[in-house]
Amino acid sequence: MNVLVTGGAGFIGSHVSERLVALGNQVQVLDNLSTGKRENLPPSELLNFQEGDIRDQELVAECCDQADAVIHLAAVASVQASVDDPAGTHQSNFDGTLNLLEACRKSDVKRFLYACSAAIYGDTEVLPVKEETALNPLTPYAVDKLSGEYYLGYYSRQYGLNTSSFRFFNIYGPRQDPSSPYSGVISIMADRLLSGREMTIFGDGKQTRDFVYVGDLADLLVESLARTDMSGSIMNVGTGKQTSLLDLKSALESVSGKTLKVSFDDPRKGDIKFSCAAVTRLVTCFGKVPTTPIKEGLRELLG
Ligand SMILES: NC(=O)c1ccc[n+]([C@@H]2O[C@H](COP(=O)([O-])OP(=O)(O)OC[C@H]3O[C@@H](n4cnc5c(N)ncnc54)[C@H](O)[C@@H]3O)[C@@H](O)[C@H]2O)c1
Repeated sequence: MNVLVTGGAGFIGSHVSERLVALGNQVQVLDNLSTGKRENLPPSELLNFQEGDIRDQELVAECCDQADAVIHLAAVASVQASVDDPAGTHQSNFDGTLNLLEACRKSDVKRFLYACSAAIYGDTEVLPVKEETALNPLTPYAVDKLSGEYYLGYYSRQYGLNTSSFRFFNIYGPRQDPSSPYSGVISIMADRLLSGREMTIFGDGKQTRDFVYVGDLADLLVESLARTDMSGSIMNVGTGKQTSLLDLKSALESVSGKTLKVSFDDPRKGDIKFSCAAVTRLVTCFGKVPTTPIKEGLRELLG
């Protein structure tokens, strides 16, 4: 299969590309390297890297012309960046998605997988969060992710494009960039632990997230490429388990044998307190949830 992976040089995209290549697929990566890195990708004759932008309609059409399937991961993945620059991030996170869907419609692409986000639920009170839960996108990032998902539904109904939207919860693992205070909390914790620097926890540390190991997500996306029975599907990708930041700290310390110094500050405005995915749809569709235990995933991350 020839698979176009947008955002393939990024954290999640590089794991997905690696899996695809390992299984003998031809992979085209389209990435503008705004946060991704060329060196995240494995050297392989099966992989063709194209530095370019999903906002470029002509380039996107060229890439889709050669592809059997698209895994669309390219986005400005920082919620804070979308708050700082809604119009700029909208061009990548929404216009780029629409460019890809249009190019797929006009070419022979058979399958379209989309990285949506649990951010579209906002601060929900009832856990675990089901896909049917009222949506409450609170940031430009979440609004764009949800709009993209709605468009997938439209292209599935109108043109028969075999689409699936996956609402990722908190993905973690090697190659996640810890450089911004808004990066994935596990990458920041691991970075602080290894460098001996103090970590600031905003709030009491009892806030929870549903953490998914990136390798499990990559396996799931690759497996779902061949599915012909999922068009128009929408699905949470989580484990169905909550882990608090304090539990995470203990797990990291036990895996590494080091102590993480922490200080506590006021909760950040807009941060949600608890998060956990309902996984019934995932189990019904794939017969399983992401399985890597958190300590094993942390071991992989620490290297
Ligand atoms: N990491 C998570 O926990 C998480 C959770 C929910 C959703 N997601 C979504 O998963 C996807 C991958 O996220 P990630 O964590 O790997 O982030 P990332 O920043 O590592 O990857 C995004 C990639 O997209 C590229 N990119 C950005 N704008 C582009 C553009 N206009 N044209 C071409 N390439 C562009 C970047 O260079 C980068 O390589 C994103 O769509 C993100 O919104 C991630």
